[in-house]
Formats: sequence, structure tokens, C-alpha cells
Amino acid sequence: MKNTVKTFRDAKEKGEKITMLTAYDYSTAKLMEEAGINAILVGDSLGNTMLGYEDTISVTMEDMIHHGAAVARGTNNTMVVIDMPFMSYQTSVYDALVNAGRLMKEGRAAAVKLEGGAAICPQIKAITDAGIPVMAHLGLTPQSINAFGGNRVQGKTEEAAKKLIEDAFAVQEAGAFAVVLECIPEKLASIITKKLEISTIGIGAGNGCDGQVLVYQDMLGMFSDYIPKFAKKFADVGTVMKGAFADYIKEVSEGTYPAQEHTFKIDDDVLEKLY
Ligand code: KIV
Repeated sequence: MKNTVKTFRDAKEKGEKITMLTAYDYSTAKLMEEAGINAILVGDSLGNTMLGYEDTISVTMEDMIHHGAAVARGTNNTMVVIDMPFMSYQTSVYDALVNAGRLMKEGRAAAVKLEGGAAICPQIKAITDAGIPVMAHLGLTPQSINAFGGNRVQGKTEEAAKKLIEDAFAVQEAGAFAVVLECIPEKLASIITKKLEISTIGIGAGNGCDGQVLVYQDMLGMFSDYIPKFAKKFADVGTVMKGAFADYIKEVSEGTYPAQEHTFKIDDDVLEKLY
């Protein structure tokens, strides 16, 4: 069954959880689809995990299109959401519309995600009015890392919690079909989830959200630069990879790889004609 915005709506109605992971390439996307994931986020976290930047600020539209299109080619039924990178939508409603259109046409997204609340609602409204589904993103929004002064839990004071609730209503009103809640207290995320008609997708926001998203390198133990508290390691793929790389190095160095079963043959009569 193809996952669409309707999947999110139906799941909320039935009280079923939405599953989402990030992916940035064809083969990982294929594996996730085979595992039965509802949605893949081509997050601008690719700036950290794939490109080695210390934050997401330098990620470009070209980066997002390049990785987004690869993920789209690896999926048939999974809903692919592509992040709008820093300064591709904050600058104006026009820029937001043009760049959201590029992510759909060139990246083959089924929806776009952008960070922020009331301040970017004109952009959310214009994009959804153009027929492009929008996932909003509130709480710890990594493109504002310099304004936050680091990766801090958001919404802990009365004022900040009220602002988050207002922003959640604002993005819903502007037309978003879902909202990511990142790094906020579990009880606040649960209140927002109960109040909203649209789905909440949590990351570091506890178990009360309508769905969850994780950066796939975090849940596979493949990224050690920064390990957030909420990132459960579902498998230690990083260690398995390092072990395999070390075995390869050893076997090539010792001359035991490639073995006979990995080599191609040529007929002796052809060989004789070569001398
Ligand atoms: O870029 C990303 O991967 C994200 C998730 C952390 C939600 O925005």
C-alpha cells in the first residue's frame, strides 16, 4: 500500500503509530521500504552524516535534490519527505514556493519539510496552496542552532511551552499535514499531540507522539560525532562495518582474497593463442 498524507490522517484517527527514518541514498531507502517503513525523511542532517559538516547550515538545494532523487528511486510505496535547506524558504514566500517546487520536480519528493512556527506560516500556506504537502518542524530546529546556542531541549519554561503550542496550532492552520517535534519534554509533546488534528512525529519528544523519526546512522550506531540521549542503538552496524573493513584489509594484504570462487575463467585454447 502506498503511503501518502492519507496514511498519516488515517493513522491518527485509528491511534496507530507512523514510522519514519532518515535516508539519503538509493540502497538504504530500498532496505527501509522492504522493512515496511511508512515514510523516509531526506533530512538536511545529511550535512552532518553524509557530508561531514558540523551543522546543517551549509546544505544546499543541490545537495537535497541529489540525495532526495536517489531515495525516491529506491522507493515505490514509502512516502518521501525532503527537507528544505537553510535559506531556501526563510528569505521569501516566492523563494519557498520555487524551491519546494524544485524538490518535487527534481527530487521527486511527495512532501517537503521546513523548520519554524508562526514566522514561516505564509510560506507553509503558499506551498500547501500550490498542492505540495508540508511537514512542519518545531522545538529544536537545527537550522537555528546559532540562535539556540547549541543542541538544547526546548519548551521547558511556561513561556516557551506556550509558544510551542501556539506555533503548533499556527502550522496546522497554515495547512501542514504533520509536524516534527524535536527535543521537547515528553509531557508537552503529548499535550500538543492531543490538541492537534494533524500528526506529530517525535524525535526526542517521548512516546506520546503520533509517530517517531530517527536519523538512521544514529539508530544503527554508525555516527559517533554526536550521540543524542534519545537515539536508541537498534543495531551496532558501525562495529560490524569496521570489522568487515578490517577483515578485507587483512585478506587483501595476506593474499587470501580474492579466492578462486571470486575469479573469472578463460579457456586454455584462447590463452595459448596469446603467447
Ligand atoms: O534533518 C533531519 O534529519 C531532521 C530530523 C532530525 C527530524 O530534521
